[in-house]
Amino acid sequence: MEKYVINGGNKLYGGVKIQSAKNSVLPILAAAVLTDGTITILDVPQITDVSNMVKILTRLGCKAVFSGDNLIIDSSSANCFEIPSGLAHELRSSVFLLGSLVSRFKMAKIAFPGGCDIGLRPVDLHLTGLKRLGVEITEESGYILCKCEKLMGNEIMLDCPSVGATENIMLAAVKAEGTTVIKNAAREPEIEDLQKFLNMIGAKVRGAGSGTVVIEGVRSLGGATFKPIHDRIEAGTFLVATAMCGGEVELECSCAENLSSLLHKLRENGCIIRIKNDKISLESSRRLTSVKTIETQPYPGFPTDLQAQITALCCICRGQSIITENLFETRFKYVPELRKMGADITVINRSAFVRGVDKFKGATVVAHDLRGGAALVLASLAAEGVSEVLDISHIDRGYGRFEQKLGSLGGDIKRVAV
Ligand code: EPZ
Repeated sequence: MEKYVINGGNKLYGGVKIQSAKNSVLPILAAAVLTDGTITILDVPQITDVSNMVKILTRLGCKAVFSGDNLIIDSSSANCFEIPSGLAHELRSSVFLLGSLVSRFKMAKIAFPGGCDIGLRPVDLHLTGLKRLGVEITEESGYILCKCEKLMGNEIMLDCPSVGATENIMLAAVKAEGTTVIKNAAREPEIEDLQKFLNMIGAKVRGAGSGTVVIEGVRSLGGATFKPIHDRIEAGTFLVATAMCGGEVELECSCAENLSSLLHKLRENGCIIRIKNDKISLESSRRLTSVKTIETQPYPGFPTDLQAQITALCCICRGQSIITENLFETRFKYVPELRKMGADITVINRSAFVRGVDKFKGATVVAHDLRGGAALVLASLAAEGVSEVLDISHIDRGYGRFEQKLGSLGGDIKRVAV
């Protein structure tokens, strides 16, 4: 186990290079199983969700090796369609492999996936979509078993614009016979990135980002070298950190367009934000003013993955805010931890009611999930005094070199073995 020890109160100044998007790299890793061509993914974040996905690919018989931050995958020797529970429970994106495995082997056996404990996180839309493509699905003793004679293109209407279900169906459909149309598909930028990658290896996918994705089945796929988009959630996390601590930080990332809902709120708070082609800078020099309401929505609405971070900001703004979480049932587990730091915040049903206080006070707090843990780090950096953030393995799932990057901006943060 490890913890962060953070001495709060420093303003943040300088520049940070944003990693490739975790939620783009993970489905692309699943897509690598579809082809015997060699896949090189550039600038892969050094995070445990990626290392666990690489373990799964290796278990399936793929060769996956890092060359610096670039990851080279050769799936030509893949020979297994089963993911054991120990690995599948490590991360949500193991479920994306259902589509790839059933496409390659016409069989798949995966334990129900793990991931952040932020809600029920069912996979019914994934399974319904695969069934529409001709997959027979049974569930027994915690495993999902898939088999099919032949994948046939079909029209699929998603009950809600699920990111994972959209991606899983795309992966199953790229080599199906005929055309698949996914309606009410998720519109996240990571879906468009997956489409771009799949077309680069020879698939025929269009419409990602529009809400309707059309996939024309092809017979074979090849290799590619691919640079995923920047991680808009990591970028947003650093922007909120600067807003909370004060200072001026410039991010090296071309994801401003994918962050417009957050940028709009931060400007409303009183931050000065400048955007040049591949850079976003934020300046915050005084106590900010609260935004009245924030509602998380599927893209392009306010991202649920930035809900904890913006709530921590609201806690030290002037005024009151109501933050409503519309996607996940229990994504406020970090709130009791913020209260230990002096936050005036109450959760009723899916909304957090915040009254701004002058400052957080340093305390010992516990990370319960990835983004909630990141929010506790931000609160500690802005707090008066010393804080400890425990169980930071949750944060390591999605933020590569987190303490190094924050330290380079002036944050006083150390990783300590417990
Ligand atoms: C992806 O999770 C992301 N993870 C999540 O990021 C992100 O919060 C989420 O999309 C929403 O943007 C990855 O991409 C690896 P969903 P996913 O399916 O695919 C319901 C992070 O912090 N639903 O879009 O699991 C579900 O309960 C992580 O980086 C069903 O009802 O999210 C939720 O209410 C956390 N049935 C809503 O849809 C299903 O079969 C959105 O879930 C699937 C989902």
